[in-house]
Amino acid sequence: MATYSAIKKELMENPRTWLITGCAGFIGSNLLEALLKLNQKVVGLDNFSTGFQRNLDEVRSFVSPEQWGGFRFRQGDIRNLEDCRKACAGVQIVLHQAALGSVPRSIEDPINTNSNNIDGFLNMLVAARDAPVKRFVYAASSSTYGDHPALPKSEDVIGRPLSPYAVTKYVNELYADVFVKTYGMEIMGLRYFNVFGPRQDPKGGYAAVIPKWYLAMVSSEPVSINGDGQTSRDFCYIENCVQANLQAALSENPEALNQVYNIACGERTTLLQLFEKMKDTVFRHNPHARQIRANFGSFRPGDIRHSLADIGKARGLLGYEPEYGLSAGLDKASGWYLNFCRSKGCVEESAICP
Ligand SMILES: NC(=O)c1ccc[n+]([C@@H]2O[C@H](COP(=O)([O-])OP(=O)(O)OC[C@H]3O[C@@H](n4cnc5c(N)ncnc54)[C@H](O)[C@@H]3O)[C@@H](O)[C@H]2O)c1
Repeated sequence: MATYSAIKKELMENPRTWLITGCAGFIGSNLLEALLKLNQKVVGLDNFSTGFQRNLDEVRSFVSPEQWGGFRFRQGDIRNLEDCRKACAGVQIVLHQAALGSVPRSIEDPINTNSNNIDGFLNMLVAARDAPVKRFVYAASSSTYGDHPALPKSEDVIGRPLSPYAVTKYVNELYADVFVKTYGMEIMGLRYFNVFGPRQDPKGGYAAVIPKWYLAMVSSEPVSINGDGQTSRDFCYIENCVQANLQAALSENPEALNQVYNIACGERTTLLQLFEKMKDTVFRHNPHARQIRANFGSFRPGDIRHSLADIGKARGLLGYEPEYGLSAGLDKASGWYLNFCRSKGCVEESAICP
């Protein structure tokens, strides 16, 4: 089993051609940045439904012109099989991230979530099979654990889904399994648990908790907590998630193939604990942060109450070793949100310490 540094070295010596779907989104653009920095050739596919040109522009500013020259962007939609086929042509490894995230969005519009997340996924599997690509790694989700109460969550014990979004992510796993058995493909699913970090969209009704709270805190506004604050999550910094993708993509361990893996830190944090930790981080930049209040609202339908991953399987079979815990991740992310808020003018410059 190769270490993460060995994998990066191997990629530098023998570059591959990758396809990242959802490359203009949060996770996709971070994967793009990591791969371009390793001198890989990358095709990106996105329809900008929840992703942004500004994410691609930021990646461009972080890599050399030669590295950026290794990237080819295709604006297209995974609900269109032809777009998927064109994107898969000549590709060795697919990192499939494109989907409509958010439990509340799926409750409001299950049909749209279904077509993006299930029809789109199936199109991508068919296109990858026919190309053919060597390996297909996809974004699965901790929402698949549904109503099962066991903690920590281990991969083979799941409950019933609690939202249309969770149904779509579970159906992805079922399709992946069938494509492995029926067409002999190499497919691995990564069940992400609350990933956070730079470029995660802080705006809009479906924003995730950490970016939403950063935006509020940097602007000295109160944050809202859904429920009593005791809801818990296993928050995972984006660089851990990037590591897991590269390890799954390059693993040569036969036992590791065609599996799903929990990708998280293995740390449980309640929303109230998160609130305090984030206040401490933001305080260093905004002296008003300590006074920020939390308003408690109702629990959100479809939300899992507690979440904590057993990451032993990814550790044992992929060599996954998260490099960032929650505090280290929050430190890194807060700098990015501060710059984001400055550049968008959502905060008074005088309120921020340099
Ligand atoms: N962020 C998390 O905590 C988390 C947790 C579990 C699973 N996931 C999964 O990880 C993946 C990436 O999530 P993210 O947080 O980066 O979300 P995101 O919304 O930032 O990125 C998704 C990207 O996919 C694109 N996209 C959506 N539908 C598309 C379509 N039909 N055709 C082409 N492009 C399309 C969007 O424009 C966007 O750029 C998703 O599959 C999501 O379900 C994320």
